[in-house]
Order: sequence, then C-alpha cells, then structure tokens
Amino acid sequence: MVSIRLEIRIWMRSMYVCLCKGITDGQIREAVQQGCDSLRDLRRELGVGGQCGKCARDAREVLRDTRAQASVQPYAAVAAAASRSSGPVLFTPQPA
Ligand code: FES
Repeated sequence: MVSIRLEIRIWMRSMYVCLCKGITDGQIREAVQQGCDSLRDLRRELGVGGQCGKCARDAREVLRDTRAQASVQPYAAVAAAASRSSGPVLFTPQPA
C-alpha cells in the first residue's frame, strides 16, 4: 500500500507546467539544478514558453522555488547535523 504522502509527492513531481511542450515541474527543477538560470535558459533547453507562453509565469515560479531550495538546503544540513551532535558543529561557508 502506497502512503498518501508518497502519492502526493509522486503527483507533485509530475505536474505539467507547459502543456504545449509537455514539460513537468520536475523537468524544470532538474534543468535548474543543471545550470538553467532564467526563463530564457529554460526556453532554450526545454522549449518552455516557446509556443503560447501561458506557462511562463508558472515556469518562472518553479525556477525561483528551485533556486530558493538550493540556497536553503546547506543550512538545513547544518541544522540537522547540529541536532544530532552533542558537541559543536563546524560550519565552513562555501562560495556560491
Ligand atoms: S503552455 Fe507552455 S508554451 Fe504553451
């Protein structure tokens, strides 16, 4: 039996953002993680927004959300390490 949470996660991973090109938010997130940094990049790599353009706002939102998650995750990892450790946690800032 698949849990409801897992089903929601699977559903969310396959949400179509661009119907004209059949592009999901997961594909956009993957493209952003591989270096796409603007809607122009996404259009060039995936074709998002290249036809009717109705998906541009949502695609931009997925782009921003993915970038925001990427900037928060290192700190979340430090917080998780701190909660597991009884001693001090050393944090070395990394260049962006
Ligand atoms: S829905 Fe993306 S270009 Fe039409």
